[in-house]
Amino acid sequence: MGVASGMRVLCSDQTLQEQRRAAEYNARQQAPVVNPITGEMAGGVPEPKTATRRPPSVLVSCVWMRMAVRAQSSSRAPLCAEDGEDPVSSARHLMNRYKVLKTLGDGTYGSVLKAQNKQTNEWVAIKRMKQKYYSWDECMKLREIASLRKLIHPNIVKLKEVIRENDELHLVFEFMEANLYEFMKSRVRAIPESKVRNIMFQTMQAMNYVHKHGYFHRDMKPENLLVSGETVKLADFGLAREIRARPPFTEYVSTRWYRAPEVLLRSSIYNSPLDIWACGGIMAELYTLRPLFPGASESDQLYKICSVLGTPTTVSWPEGFKLAAQLGYRFPQFVPTRLETLVPQANADGIQLMQAMMQWDPNRRHSATKILHHPFFEADALNETAPVRMRDNVEGESDSAEMQ
Ligand SMILES: Nc1ncnc2c1ncn2[C@@H]1O[C@H](COP(=O)(O)OP(=O)(O)OP(=O)(O)O)[C@@H](O)[C@H]1O
Ligand SMILES: [Mg+2]
Repeated sequence: MGVASGMRVLCSDQTLQEQRRAAEYNARQQAPVVNPITGEMAGGVPEPKTATRRPPSVLVSCVWMRMAVRAQSSSRAPLCAEDGEDPVSSARHLMNRYKVLKTLGDGTYGSVLKAQNKQTNEWVAIKRMKQKYYSWDECMKLREIASLRKLIHPNIVKLKEVIRENDELHLVFEFMEANLYEFMKSRVRAIPESKVRNIMFQTMQAMNYVHKHGYFHRDMKPENLLVSGETVKLADFGLAREIRARPPFTEYVSTRWYRAPEVLLRSSIYNSPLDIWACGGIMAELYTLRPLFPGASESDQLYKICSVLGTPTTVSWPEGFKLAAQLGYRFPQFVPTRLETLVPQANADGIQLMQAMMQWDPNRRHSATKILHHPFFEADALNETAPVRMRDNVEGESDSAEMQ
């Protein structure tokens, strides 16, 4: 199979995070005997090379500037310097304004620092981009900034400030205690279902808002969901894309374990359902504290999906067969494994919801709106507290803005 060798690769595959996690899970993971695509041993197909997803920088005159993001800015309002401040001179005070405590993590695109605002004592997370930025225009084109300026929601991490200093770009976010992967790793016992429900409800609120506002995230994974106390917020919009953007999408996205089958099979018209697929995998992981599809390579990824969902048919996913044929790929033959046996901690509604999210055919996956109305999110017979519905923030109850 041609593994799209010449394709521009924008995935955050094989990040340090994933490599670390893979090492942790490898001991428990059973590799398939044969690679279903090439017939080699699994892992034999090289992963697409990870390339930077940032545009190449253009050398222009260097200026010092500091801009503040207006929380309530309309989608058309330009980013502007805070009132009464000289953006050029104030820029020099980044490190005077924030006291850096420690590094929270090194991502593909930069490092994230925990810092404190010296004036307000407020904790923040500062994402320092690796790439140099020589103009504001260049910065403003960044997907993470462009999308987060528009996406203001209680379950989406707040971008408080954008600072460019010495051609280095810093994104200042509200601080969150941990990411969801760290949260799961710290658990000794299973997460109670009421908590799984609450985390998923907040995640789907964010997802619904993102999709309704014309974006899809494209890198849903536990590391990109942040938690503080009972609150969950979606982060890392570095790969976010506008739904209305016209296909074909030549970018190959998302982290392998959470990558939807249509992306694995190189569909160029994937859309918001790819996020829903990833959320299904995240939900299963919340129950079991292990990734549902920890593929060691792309072919192994498809193999593992087939072994759980069963081989798709030309009826259940006609488009998938076309994509597979274009790649010369043959699905390995499997009967479905009962999800109940893989995720025994989940109740019947939870199982049904995960199945609805992880359909082979993206058109058959539930939309985020539909998921929020699933019986799983109602208080159950044990009279558990149902997750709080932030109705005010669930905009556009119809499915019209969501492309399926
Ligand atoms: N606001 C925040 N508060 C606390 N921690 C954060 C915050 N933002 C990011 N982090 C931590 O930093 C990590 C990397 O952040 P982020 O995903 O935004 O960067 P990235 O460079 O795109 O990473 P990657 O490509 O590896 O996903 C997160 O997984 C999280 O652990
Ligand atoms: Mg990330």
